[in-house]
Amino acid sequence: MNRLVVGAQWGDEGKGKIVDILTHDADVVVRYQGGSNAGHTVCIGDETFILHLIPSGILHKDKICVIGNGVVIDPKSFLEEKKMLEDLGIDINERLLISEKAHLVMPYHREFDAVKENSLGDEKIGTTKRGIGPCYVDKHARTGVRICDMLDDDILKRKIETNVEEINKLCDAYGMEKFDAGKIFEEYRQYAKEIKPYIRNTVYYLNGVFKNKKNILLEGAQGSLLDVDFGTYPYVTSSNPTVGGAFSGTGLPYTVLDSVMGVMKAYTTRVGNGPFPSELLDDMGETIRQKGGEFGATTGRPRRCGWLDLVVVKYAAMLSGMDSIAMTKIDVLDGIDEIKVCTSYEYEGRKIGFIPSQLEEFAKCKPIYKTFKGWERTSDMYSYNELPDSAKQYIDFIEKFLGIPVKMISTGAKRDEVIVK
Ligand code: GDP
Ligand code: IMO
Ligand code: MG
Repeated sequence: MNRLVVGAQWGDEGKGKIVDILTHDADVVVRYQGGSNAGHTVCIGDETFILHLIPSGILHKDKICVIGNGVVIDPKSFLEEKKMLEDLGIDINERLLISEKAHLVMPYHREFDAVKENSLGDEKIGTTKRGIGPCYVDKHARTGVRICDMLDDDILKRKIETNVEEINKLCDAYGMEKFDAGKIFEEYRQYAKEIKPYIRNTVYYLNGVFKNKKNILLEGAQGSLLDVDFGTYPYVTSSNPTVGGAFSGTGLPYTVLDSVMGVMKAYTTRVGNGPFPSELLDDMGETIRQKGGEFGATTGRPRRCGWLDLVVVKYAAMLSGMDSIAMTKIDVLDGIDEIKVCTSYEYEGRKIGFIPSQLEEFAKCKPIYKTFKGWERTSDMYSYNELPDSAKQYIDFIEKFLGIPVKMISTGAKRDEVIVK
């Protein structure tokens, strides 16, 4: 069975944990978009792993992991991650493959990400400053440097020189120090030596895996509402986390997918700027942030917290054709008297059940809530029957509203803290 796991909100839904669990039934786990802006957490026993570029399936020592062509790769970040895993006894050799078509994040991408953000003032996106946007810009402008360019020093040198020449023209305008092509080439030539053993034509490799009927698990990064086409533009990332990105980011055909699972937190969080109708700016928001440990896995920034917004999740489910939901962090709502769920918005006196494309309109949407009785405890529960009735009512409502079954319920951060329904 070939599966896609995709975030149903604004990222950080707990995809890392769910992918790690589903890896049991997979042969190959693939990341298809994003870069080291992602932070996917997996907790096994007392150990916590945060993965940025390498698929979350890597912690299963017998599985193959692939970084697909749609991912943008910062080699420095990749090598740090490789070292972190090796220090914890996880060997990635012979079982991690990097697409030769993937684009490289360069030092000037990271710096321009930061400089452009700063120049936006109040309208800044709140990016992770990992160079993601500028790298995808170069990809689409057809000037990017790719992983396969690392296979030939002369090509790598030429491409870096051409890019730096262009970039340096902009440095004056932004009051930045100019980049030194020779220095960047030397740095990347060293990275190339370490990365070469992992480079493959993953398009042919993955299609071979598909043809041989092995099980493929595709791991989305970010979330549906951060999708550059369908998310809350311009407060989005620069890739397509939704289903289309899985095809363009791997070279697998549309026939590959047997199932799409959406990962949804029992409430909503968002890191970075942009409208968030069900945001809680009061004590309840702070309670959820503290109980849920809602601080970015990549940047450490406090995440904005709010009630579950089902208008958002229903839209995400529609976009990717989700046929099941994994609901995470239900335990964070334990002990709260009343829990709210946003089921529609009020927009200029009208009730609407969709997300307006124009940001200014979305910013005016006020949440319309349905209120649920809270519950004492879901943590340390391992079967659906054990759950308190009010938690079951919450889940029932979500299933009916979305028209999709909630197949997994995560009751804690650890690998075994999950209910399969
Ligand atoms: P991802 O980016 O979607 O993989 O999610 P992150 O790793 O950025 O954020 C999810 C956070 O919630 C991590 O710290 C996880 O360890 C934690 N987590 C995942 N599932 C649960 C759960 O069911 N309960 C609790 N309390 N924490 C969870
Ligand atoms: P995972 O995979 C949450 C957000 C940033 C910012 C916007 C653009 O861990 O769920 P970027 O650096 O991509 O140009 O930033 O997207 N963002 C994420 N938010 N989880 C993520 O990844 C994110 N990756 C990017 O905060 O608002
Ligand atoms: Mg994350």
